Amino acid sequence: MAAAAAPPPPLLLPLCIFLLLSLQTHSTTDVELLISKIKPSLQGTAENLLLSTWNSSVPLCQWRGLKWSFINGSSLTCADLSSPQRSSIFLHKDPLLQLVSLQLPSANLTGTLPKEIGQLANLRSLYLAVNSLSGGVPLELGYSSSLSEIDLSHNLLNGSLPPSIWNLCDRLLSLRLHGNSLSGALPEPLLPNSTCHSLQFLDLGQNAFAGIFPDFITGFNGLKQLDLGGNMLSGQIPDSITGLKLEKLNLSHNNFTGVLPDFGESKFGVDAFEGNNPTLCGGPLGSCSRSSGLSSGAIAGLVIGLMTGTVVLVSLLIGYFQGKRKKNADEEDDEFDEMDDDEEMGNNNGDGKLVLFQGGEHLSTEDVLNATGQVMEKTSYGTVYKAKLSDGGTIALRLLREGSCKDKSSCLPVIKQLGRIRHENLIPLRAYYQGKRGEKLLIYDYLPNKTLHDLLHESRVGKPVLNWARRHKIALGIARGLAHLHNQEPPITHGNIRSKTVLVDDFFVARLNEFGLDRIMVPAIADEIISVAKSDGYKAPEIQKMKKCNSRSDVYAFGIVLLEILLGRRPGKTNGGRNVGFVDLPSIVKVAVLEETTMEVFDVEVVRGMRSPMEEGLVQALKLAMGCCAPVGSVRPTMEEVVRQLEENRPRNRSALYSPAETRSGSVTPF
Ligand SMILES: *[C@@H]1O[C@H](CO)[C@@H](O)[C@H](O)[C@H]1NC(C)=O
Ligand SMILES: *[C@@H]1O[C@H](CO)[C@@H](O)[C@H](O)[C@H]1NC(C)=O
Ligand SMILES: *[C@@H]1O[C@H](CO)[C@@H](O)[C@H](O)[C@H]1NC(C)=O
Ligand SMILES: *[C@@H]1O[C@H](CO)[C@@H](O)[C@H](O)[C@H]1NC(C)=O
Ligand SMILES: *[C@@H]1O[C@H](CO)[C@@H](O)[C@H](O)[C@H]1NC(C)=O
Ligand SMILES: *[C@@H]1O[C@H](CO)[C@@H](O)[C@H](O)[C@H]1NC(C)=O
Ligand SMILES: *[C@@H]1O[C@H](CO)[C@@H](O)[C@H](O)[C@H]1NC(C)=O
Repeated sequence: MAAAAAPPPPLLLPLCIFLLLSLQTHSTTDVELLISKIKPSLQGTAENLLLSTWNSSVPLCQWRGLKWSFINGSSLTCADLSSPQRSSIFLHKDPLLQLVSLQLPSANLTGTLPKEIGQLANLRSLYLAVNSLSGGVPLELGYSSSLSEIDLSHNLLNGSLPPSIWNLCDRLLSLRLHGNSLSGALPEPLLPNSTCHSLQFLDLGQNAFAGIFPDFITGFNGLKQLDLGGNMLSGQIPDSITGLKLEKLNLSHNNFTGVLPDFGESKFGVDAFEGNNPTLCGGPLGSCSRSSGLSSGAIAGLVIGLMTGTVVLVSLLIGYFQGKRKKNADEEDDEFDEMDDDEEMGNNNGDGKLVLFQGGEHLSTEDVLNATGQVMEKTSYGTVYKAKLSDGGTIALRLLREGSCKDKSSCLPVIKQLGRIRHENLIPLRAYYQGKRGEKLLIYDYLPNKTLHDLLHESRVGKPVLNWARRHKIALGIARGLAHLHNQEPPITHGNIRSKTVLVDDFFVARLNEFGLDRIMVPAIADEIISVAKSDGYKAPEIQKMKKCNSRSDVYAFGIVLLEILLGRRPGKTNGGRNVGFVDLPSIVKVAVLEETTMEVFDVEVVRGMRSPMEEGLVQALKLAMGCCAPVGSVRPTMEEVVRQLEENRPRNRSALYSPAETRSGSVTPF
């Protein structure tokens, strides 16, 4: 695609044109929409027998699969043709004539679902089951004002289900999507505690939906039939499901675990629950102790295993190193000579060296060694602990992997440079400890904040609303932090920009973690980081080895993070199971621009309530992100330029930035 190699201008044109088109109101009649948009889209590349009747030379009443009605409620019959002004020619332009149902099951349709279906103001039923429609379920389907029955079962639809589908809740009677390839987590309704009171039939079986049981469904109190069978859902089945008056239920062939809720005396048989994780038990699956498949001894082993994996006493760990050290002390005493002349050095009581930086002056070796810690995460660079000091303070300790900082003479200057960096968007390094056995700890401020990754991709209830103003603030924070690193002398490369290394506080200030560590790693670990960056979609194309990392490759990774922020989608390899694939965010945007569906690529939360994406700086941000992701490093902007452009194109309504308490469950803003 040409837009990829060239700098931004080619991208701008289609975007602007598209935005103009999409923002103007339509006065097209349903007949015109059918002919100009819906027929070509459903038909795909092959001529279709039934669709060929949708032709202005055929009387409207003979068009296959359609039911019409006039706005006064009377329906269109072929008898109407007897009077001349009722002929098709006039009907085409008659805005009073509206489509009420579109029914073409088993019609050999091979195209895609057109987004214009959402514009058919009076369309109540959409039955396109058993065809070969591919592509996604368009967001605009949820904007329809009358749809109440949808059956798209047994097609080839893929992608995720847009959350806008639940906009139909106040009139939706049935939603059947059985037997497609829809994936991702089931989206939550935008209004919390939706009851979808008229919804009776929900069939999402035989797709590739993943994530935990969609709790919100247990609030759909009119539901009679629920089929989630044959997906990749996991976790526990909530007890609240028994509050529904279900007549049919199918939760089989997923990966549910735990104890089945009590549905009452033999209401549903084994076939409703079979084929799940072997640990699923209770009810028709048999009592839990017998059929869990794990002996109690094995479970105890598992629990102990988990405990040692997640809760570790750092003091014990380091105590072990110390004990070992004392035996060998005599042989290794010359190891730290090169550090002794440094005035930043903290106390040195024979247990290793503690180098203190600004803001870490209160730390002592004992404090650090006696802190009790808990594993927060394991990364390629090593293990991160949250550690409690005896004075009640909390720090984050990063125990670097073995072999890091091998070349001490070049390592300490790097760490000292990192220790001098102070910026609002960078997490400060407060101290560095090096034990005699070679164990190395970096000591940072502990921030109790979520990562950007969790904010964007974890289940949404209770999380802050991430509207455009907030996302813009986060993006600008990251950009400023990076620009500060790149402006150091010598410049510091972050080397591992991704949504998981960005922490975001309650006021949407972003702070970067893990910066500059690539320079102290042995090459093997550094290359491992590159391969993880590759599978997660953050690796610039020109990078093969970590040694080649530079500020331009940081810019690329930043571009991916910015796309992740705008699209709300996770880049890189998708999780295992049936749906292995690679989400290439820049390609998704390029395809959307070419297909003139640019507004659809944005996360719904971003565009909600937005009147002019141009004036809000949203389009500029998308353009900027694509510029950062240019395949050729030399045409990417610098981080300084990125900061400047983000500052110039700010969202206008920034009031949300000053009310950090507003969470997603509290946002009652329908489309
Ligand atoms: C409509 O039908 C006529 C005659 O059957 C055919 O010549 C024409 O190509 C058709 N038009 C379209 C748009 O399919
Ligand atoms: C409804 O409107 C159509 C066209 O405007 C007209 O032909 C029909 O007679 C009307 N029916 C009733 C019951 O008013
Ligand atoms: C379905 O379409 C294919 C070509 O796309 C055609 O060969 C086949 O006859 C059609 N089947 C039916 C039942 O119309
Ligand atoms: C959906 O399937 C089409 C091919 O039919 C493929 O090109 C596209 O990448 C798929 N989309 C997703 C989100 O998997
Ligand atoms: C949704 O339901 C929960 C639990 O019933 C309740 O605590 C919460 O306040 C409700 N939220 C709204 C917006 O009604
Ligand atoms: C439940 O769903 C599974 C998977 O889709 C299917 O194989 C099975 O036949 C269904 N069982 C019932 C009773 O509908
Ligand atoms: C099912 O879940 C368990 C953990 O609950 C996981 O280890 C396993 O890989 C999952 N199986 C599949 C097929 O996803």
